Amino acid sequence: MKKLVGIALGIFVISTAFFSLDDDAQAVSFNADSKVQDVLVALGEAAPDHYLKELDPKWVQMGYELTHMGRTTHPDGGKSDYISAIFVCTDCHNQVKEDPILVNPDPEARLAYAVEKDLPFLQATTFWGMVDREGWYNEDYIIKYGDLVKPASTSLYESTQLCAQECSSGRKLEAWEWTAFQHYYASIGLTLNDLNLSDKEMTMLERGARSNQEVKAELVKMLKGKYLLASPADFIDPPSNHYEGFKDITGDAANGKIIYERSCQTCHRYGGPSQLVLDDSPLTFKKFERRIDKYNDPFNLYEIVRYGTHAEPGHRQYMPLYTADRLSNQQLEDLRAYMIQP
Ligand code: HEC
Ligand code: HEC
Repeated sequence: MKKLVGIALGIFVISTAFFSLDDDAQAVSFNADSKVQDVLVALGEAAPDHYLKELDPKWVQMGYELTHMGRTTHPDGGKSDYISAIFVCTDCHNQVKEDPILVNPDPEARLAYAVEKDLPFLQATTFWGMVDREGWYNEDYIIKYGDLVKPASTSLYESTQLCAQECSSGRKLEAWEWTAFQHYYASIGLTLNDLNLSDKEMTMLERGARSNQEVKAELVKMLKGKYLLASPADFIDPPSNHYEGFKDITGDAANGKIIYERSCQTCHRYGGPSQLVLDDSPLTFKKFERRIDKYNDPFNLYEIVRYGTHAEPGHRQYMPLYTADRLSNQQLEDLRAYMIQP
């Protein structure tokens, strides 16, 4: 018995010595609401450039207003200038969770989730969890746009600037506006709760934060396996024969109606960012029907979805394309089945 106590005491002494290696981390205590970013930094990860230790509710609110309304109260007083005369960020980006399973950016699952949560179904990815990504404008955006998006692909600051100017057909953000976005993005960063950690994983985190580098690195890996570090972006082509479409896919008109309403009509409505209003009238659908066998035609359903349109001088409204990750070929056929009744 004495011997056992001795061993236990020995282990206690060793483990206290071991745990007190890192004094800073002693204070670390996590809960479900802890920001994933803070946890990673506590585990020894280098903080990204956009990282903020403390959030200021005033700046969060300003970032919220810039995102939803395109302008806010200028720090010097008065209303700030609009970022864009045409778009606000929310035209193309949601601000809440949109993929039910974070590591599976499947458009079918995202659409079902959009119906459940009453969300728009859009071309661009959500601002929610944006600060937790490590790459932006990925894959085919880099391949297609090259040097224009290179700096953006590794920097949230650069991608925000790029999107404010190019995607929004707007202007460069002032330094204080970036600060506002920075606070707003961070306020909708992932928390541990969003990662659905098991009790065991939570305990491992608590302990690990006081452990050595190797253990911490393992925990970082575990956490980063629970969400996407970058959103996939695959540009795909329309079917080679537009009239036949994807012959091996049968469209579901009921699903197509959902996509039409949650996606197309969020922009193509009265007062929306596009002058083109897509209503539910036979006249509107006829227009698409007559053009379904056309090529190089903006009213060909396949081309408009996969290529979008481009901003032109004097006409800065344009439509972003849908990547395969944002709208599947099945969903495209669903849309056709709804819009173009046989
Ligand atoms: C007309 C549509 C449109 C508007 C308006 C728009 N964006 Fe985007 N944005 C996109 C598209 C498309 C992408 C590339 C796909 C994606 O989200 O990853 C993108 C990407 C981004 C990214 C990188 C996301 C990532 O993970 O790759 C950021 C950051 C961003 N936008 C910020 C903004 C901000 C801030 C605004 C408002 C000032 C804004 N965007 C307005 C379409 C838009
Ligand atoms: C994020 C906003 C947005 C979404 C979502 C969107 N569009 Fe568009 N679309 C635009 C804008 C902006 C234009 C440019 C036309 C204009 O207003 O001048 C455009 C152009 C078009 C055009 C070409 C019009 C022309 O005269 O050249 C068609 C057709 C079209 N969209 C169909 C669709 C369909 C179908 C969907 C759904 C799958 C859709 N759009 C989703 C914003 C959007």
